[in-house]
Amino acid sequence: MDVRMGEVIAEGKTKIIRSIRQRPDLVLVESKNDITAGDGKKHDVMEGKAEWSTATTCNVFRLLKRAGIPVAFVDRLDKTHFYARRCEMLPYEVVVRREAHGSYLKRHPDVAKGFRFSELEVEFFLKTTEKRWGDYKLPKDDPLIVFSAYGSAMLFPPDVPISSQQPFLAGTLPYSNKRDYIEFIARQTFLILEKAWDALGFRLADFKEEFGIDVETGELLLADVIDNDSWRLLKGDRYFDKQNYRDGALLDAVKADYARVAELSAQLGCDS
Ligand SMILES: Nc1ncnc2c1ncn2[C@@H]1O[C@H](COP(=O)(O)OP(=O)(O)OP(=O)(O)O)[C@@H](O)[C@H]1O
Ligand SMILES: [Mg+2]
Repeated sequence: MDVRMGEVIAEGKTKIIRSIRQRPDLVLVESKNDITAGDGKKHDVMEGKAEWSTATTCNVFRLLKRAGIPVAFVDRLDKTHFYARRCEMLPYEVVVRREAHGSYLKRHPDVAKGFRFSELEVEFFLKTTEKRWGDYKLPKDDPLIVFSAYGSAMLFPPDVPISSQQPFLAGTLPYSNKRDYIEFIARQTFLILEKAWDALGFRLADFKEEFGIDVETGELLLADVIDNDSWRLLKGDRYFDKQNYRDGALLDAVKADYARVAELSAQLGCDS
């Protein structure tokens, strides 16, 4: 049977995850042509995106793998599919920032857009849907997590000044004991990609990552994808990532940037 026809185990806005018969340790990740912003409120179908996304992700993960980062990525199958280790995904989005952009500015209105952090900022967000976490109702989805030294966590709304907020929930979160290791991998990953993009003349301003536990080995792996939706990539003050789409740019202009980033990603890690 064609692996591309395997059983769908998850489908989101931009990807379909399929199981593979005979290989319960792997999944097939298919990219879709969909581009979304504002948690799906803005949505378009962009011809070519699945291919550019797969190329970018595979090139990024190949570089990270060579550098010793534990990644779920295994191998590319074709233009729009790659194999990855099957993971139980952790409910976190881990964001690493070299510069202040996006929602960070809402939480820290005193910080100027584009401000450069000499030490990387790392933030954890809880992945939630329909404003629920287990039995709890939340005022906002994807809250910011602040971990205490003892492993308990406080949740804050992600889009209001942090200084004026009380946490709306406190408790323990799954795998919070892995927090330091996740942060370590996230920082290493950022430094590798920042350097690789710098060599090509671009500034990696921030990115988002997701982690999972390998269902066979129990190893913690950098999973999901890292593509042009995952980061902010600039030259001067010009974005080459999804930011222009969020800001209402014409789809053809966004397309050209995605194609260019995919093409350039093949040179990541090369001594240009
Ligand atoms: N290696 C993997 N093993 C198992 N599941 C994976 C793996 N990589 C990614 N996933 C999961 O595939 C799902 C579909 O991805 P997609 O990004 O399209 O969803 P989404 O609409 O963005 O929703 P989400 O907010 O959950 O990411 C996600 O829940 C993601 O966590
Ligand atoms: Mg996703």
